[in-house]
Amino acid sequence: MMVTTALLLWSLLALVHSVSSSLSLDNCLGYRAVNVEERPGGLSADLMLVGQPCNTYGRDIENLRLEVEYETETRLHVIIYDADENVYQVPDSVFPRPTVHHQRRNENAPELKFSYEDSPFSFAVSRLSNGEPIFNSSGSNLIFQCQYVNLRTSLPQNPNLYGIGEHSDPLRLKTTGYTRTLWNRDAYTIPAGTNLYGAHPLYFDHRGETGTHGVFLLNSNGMDVHIDQAGDGTQFLEYNLLGGVLDFYFLAGPTPKEVSMQYAEVAGLPAMVPYWGFGFHQCRYGYRDIFEVAAVVSNYSHANIPLETMWTDIDYMDQRKVFTLDERRFPLQKVRALVDFLHQRDQRYIVMVDPAVAHSDNTAFTRGMEKDVFMRRQDGSLYEGAVWPGPTVFPDWFHPSTPDYWINEFALFFDAENGVDIDALWIDMNEAANFCDWPCSDPVAFAKANNLPPDPPSARPNPSSLPGFPEVFQPGNRNKRRIKQSPRQGQGKYKYEDGKKLGIQGRDLIDPPYTIANAAGSLSNKTINTDLIHANGLAEYDTHNLYGTMMSSLSREAMLHRRPEKRPLVITRSTFAGAGARVAHWLGDNASTWEKYRTSIAQMLAFASIFQIPMVGSDVCGFTSNTTEQLCSRWAMLGAFNPFYRNHNEYGMISQEFYQWESVAEAARKAIEIRYQLLDYMYTAFYRQTRTGEPWLLPLFFVYPDEPGTFGIDLQFFYGGALLVSPVTEDGSTSVDAYFPDDLFYDWYTGLPVRGRGEVIRLSDISYTDIPLHVRGGSIIPVRAQSANTTTELRKRDFRLIIAPGLDGRAVGELYLDDGESLHQPATLEVTFRYENSRVSFDGVFTLQTGLRIESVTVFGRGGGQEVVAVDLPLSKPGGVDLG
Ligand code: GLC
Repeated sequence: MMVTTALLLWSLLALVHSVSSSLSLDNCLGYRAVNVEERPGGLSADLMLVGQPCNTYGRDIENLRLEVEYETETRLHVIIYDADENVYQVPDSVFPRPTVHHQRRNENAPELKFSYEDSPFSFAVSRLSNGEPIFNSSGSNLIFQCQYVNLRTSLPQNPNLYGIGEHSDPLRLKTTGYTRTLWNRDAYTIPAGTNLYGAHPLYFDHRGETGTHGVFLLNSNGMDVHIDQAGDGTQFLEYNLLGGVLDFYFLAGPTPKEVSMQYAEVAGLPAMVPYWGFGFHQCRYGYRDIFEVAAVVSNYSHANIPLETMWTDIDYMDQRKVFTLDERRFPLQKVRALVDFLHQRDQRYIVMVDPAVAHSDNTAFTRGMEKDVFMRRQDGSLYEGAVWPGPTVFPDWFHPSTPDYWINEFALFFDAENGVDIDALWIDMNEAANFCDWPCSDPVAFAKANNLPPDPPSARPNPSSLPGFPEVFQPGNRNKRRIKQSPRQGQGKYKYEDGKKLGIQGRDLIDPPYTIANAAGSLSNKTINTDLIHANGLAEYDTHNLYGTMMSSLSREAMLHRRPEKRPLVITRSTFAGAGARVAHWLGDNASTWEKYRTSIAQMLAFASIFQIPMVGSDVCGFTSNTTEQLCSRWAMLGAFNPFYRNHNEYGMISQEFYQWESVAEAARKAIEIRYQLLDYMYTAFYRQTRTGEPWLLPLFFVYPDEPGTFGIDLQFFYGGALLVSPVTEDGSTSVDAYFPDDLFYDWYTGLPVRGRGEVIRLSDISYTDIPLHVRGGSIIPVRAQSANTTTELRKRDFRLIIAPGLDGRAVGELYLDDGESLHQPATLEVTFRYENSRVSFDGVFTLQTGLRIESVTVFGRGGGQEVVAVDLPLSKPGGVDLG
C-alpha cells in the first residue's frame, strides 16, 4: 500500500515536471554548425549553442562535435558528442565498435546520403537510389544538456516501425501516443507498454516497395522514445535521453533481412550454440529437493517424452546464496550422481546463477571482499540491497579484479571433478534486480520483513526408489561429500576503460530533472542505486543498462574457462544491444495466460530477427499463475517452434511438466518429434545467421516485404525461410485465421498444395495436439528420417528430403552439420540441394564424414498429396537422382 502511494506521488511529480519543462524547451534555440569539413568519406563540424543556454534539465553543453562517416556502402555513422569528451559514451569493452575498412569504403557510392542545415543545425538522411527521406531532425531544435538530450525525426504517416525493445507490445509498434522506455528492470508478468529486462535502441522502418532501413542509437542511458503525431498531424519519433551522446548507425537495407544483417555488422554476429541446446528443456522454480528433480527426469522417460536437459532454479542453493548447495535438500553427492546419470544418458544439467552475492559469512562473499570487487557507495561503504538470500552485495563488472573473482567462483563451484558439473548456464536478476525499494537504507530489516530468504521446505527422506537411478537415490541413503573450497585463480581476459568519457560531474544521479516513464518509479527503485560509481569511474546512472550484459558476458568467459573448447550456452534475462554475440535470452516472467502465449511470438521475433539474439524463447505453459491443460498443450506445440524450448513454472503454481496431462504429453511428443526431425534444418539456418547475420526466424514481412498484408502479422511466423507456422491463438478455439502470402504453400502433414493469394484462410478442426505448418514452395527441407529420445541419438539418424516445388517448379535447400559443440570445427558438411525437372542434386563441402545417407525423397504436391521415393544417397560426396 505504502509502495503504491509512493509510486502515485512519484508519477504525479513526474507529470508536473515534464509538463512544466516541456514548455521551457521552446526557448532552446539549438546549435549552429561551423568549421564544417567535408571529406570523401564523411564530414565533421563544430556545433555551437545558439543564444542563451536554456538549461532545462541541467546545463546546456555549449560546444559539440559532429562526425559523419560513410562506413560502408549501406551504413552511415553519425555521432554528436561534447567537444570536451566528458560526456559518458558506451565503453568499447562492452560494445566493440565495428571496424571500418577505409580502403574498401569508396568503391561504390554509399546508399545513404547525409545532408544538414547549419542554423539551427539539423540533419537529414536519405536514400541515394530513390531519394526517399529516411531521417530528418529539422522539426525541432537539437537539445544537448548534461542530463537530457532530445532529437526528433519526422516520419511518413502511418509508418511500419519495429524494435526499440525489450517490450511485450505488438511487433509493429503503435504510432500515436506511444512511449518506449528503455531502462532495464525486473519486470514480473512482463506488462505491456512498459520497460522490461533489456535495452535495444534500434528500430526498423519498413516502407514496403520503397525499402526498409534501420536506425540504431548506441546509447545505454535511460530513455523515452516517443512515437506520435505533432499538433499539425505530422508523424515523428523522438529520443529523450537521460545522458550520453547521439551515436547513430543508419542502416540502408533495403530489405528487412538486409537491415538485420547490417545491424549484425555493428552489434556483432550472434554466438553459435551447441546442437543439444535445441533439445527440449524442463525447469521450474520450487522443486523441493534433488529427489524431486530426479523424479521429473524419470517421469519424462516413463511418459516417453524426450527430455534433453534438466534444470534447477535457486532451490539448489543454501538459503538462496549463489555458489552454495543446500546440503540437506541438494547434497553434493546426490547432485553429482544425478549429473553423472544424466550425462550417461546423453542428457544435460543446467542451474541458475544470480549476480547478487549474499552478505554473510559465505566464501563467495569473503573472497569477493578480499578482492574488493563489490560495488561501493561514494563514501566508500559497501552498497547493499536485498535479493533472494536477503542482504546482498553486487559485483562491479568494471572492477579489474572481478573477472578473476567470478571465473574462480565458477571454477570452484562448477568444478567437473568435485563440484556441480553443469553443461550450460542460466543467469537471472541481472538488470540488476533488487527487491528493496529505494533508498533501501536498511536491507537487513527489509529482508526480515519480506521473509528473505524464504523458509526452505523441510528436507525429507527419499520418498521412494527411482528404478534405474544411482544408489544414492534409493531410500535410506545418506549424503557424504562436500565441495572442496580451496581457492584457485581464474584467468580474466577483460580489458577495462580508463580516462575519458566518464560522465559529466555534478549531475543529480538519483533524481535527474527529466523523468523517464520507468514502470518501477524512480531510476534507482528496485535496482542498484544509480549514484554508485564503478571502479573505473563510470556511474551506474550511465551504465545501468549494461549490467546484465556485462555479467553474462563474463559468465560466458567463466564457462569457457571450465570447458575451453566447447560453445557455451548462457541464457540470460537482461540484455543490451550486442548481447547476442555472446549469450542467449529467455523472455522472463510471463504468465500462464493466452495473452502472454500470443505475446511470446512477437517477442521471440523481435529478438531473433531484429535484435540479433536468435537463441530465444518464453517460459512454455507460462511462468506465474496456474496454467490450464489446453493452454499448456497449445504452448507445448508453439514452444517447439521457439529456438529455445523450455517449460518453466513458478514456485507455488500447479505442476506443468508435459506429462501432467495425457493430452499435453501427446502434444509434446508430437511437437518434439517434428522439432527433432527439423533440427538440422534449424541448426543450418541458425548457423547461417551466426556467419552472416541473416535472420533465420522471420516475421512474414521479412519474407514478403512488398505485401502490405504481412506488415502487421505477429501471430504467425516463418521457422526458417521454408516453414510457415500458424498456431491457434485463442482459448477454446480449434481454428485459426491464417494469412497466406501470394505464393505456393504445402500442408506439412499431407503435402497438399495451398495457393496463397495474400489473404486470410480459415484453418479449422485443429485439435489440441496439433499445430498448422506449411512449407513454402521453392524449398527443400532436409529432415531426419526418424526422431529420437536425445539429440545425441538423433545425430545418428539418416536423412529424408522434403521437396516443395515453387511456382516455377524448382526448389533449393541447405544442410550444415558439424560436431555440434566445438568452438572451432575442423571439418564440416555444407550442402546445397537443388530440384529442377524432377531431378534432385546436391553438392558442397564434405570434409566432415558422417556416414549418414539420404534414404528417401518426398515430393509435395504430387499425386494429389505427396510422393515418397526411396533413394540411397551417401552424404559424403556430391550426388543426385531423377525422380521420374
Ligand atoms: C526470477 C526468474 C524466474 C525464476 C525466479 C526464481 O523471477 O525470472 O525465472 O524462476 O526468479 O529464481
